[in-house]
Amino acid sequence: MNAKKAAATSGRPARRNEGGVLRAVCVLRGEGQVAGTVYFEQESESAPVVLSGQISGLAPGEHGFHVHAFGDATNGCVSAGPHFNPHGRRHGAPGDRERHAGDLGNVTAGGDGVARIDMMDGGVALSGTLSIVGRTAVVHERPDDLGKGGDDESLRTGNAGPRLACGVIGIAE
Ligand code: CU
Ligand code: ZN
Repeated sequence: MNAKKAAATSGRPARRNEGGVLRAVCVLRGEGQVAGTVYFEQESESAPVVLSGQISGLAPGEHGFHVHAFGDATNGCVSAGPHFNPHGRRHGAPGDRERHAGDLGNVTAGGDGVARIDMMDGGVALSGTLSIVGRTAVVHERPDDLGKGGDDESLRTGNAGPRLACGVIGIAE
């Protein structure tokens, strides 16, 4: 191992475009009608991640939206595993300190079944220990109760129910 080379590359993000902004993208697909594309952008390592995009084919209303631990689609959305939780915390709302890193709350579909995503989150990142690159974004059938449901499942998954569509978050240009 060349020590000089290791020092120069360790801790560096996977990719940075010319503006210094990290970008990632996720194409969500499922067994039904639900499909979408979500873009992730982070201006610097300390900046929040900005999410944009849309998911269509949903029932109108709120749907849990999370980053799950694994980028593994060998058994559909199920093999993405539990919510991304590098700090061993309980499930919560995006604004809570006690939350899984992957807890992005809910997306809300309009009467046309389309959820337009325009959010920022400081609990995830596109590099380092909180990096969501290579993990899976999942949209659920039911609303995420944000850990306030009063039962054990609320503190694990927010009772968001079945996984309607998902996709691995990959490095974007
Ligand atoms: Cu989920
Ligand atoms: Zn969670």
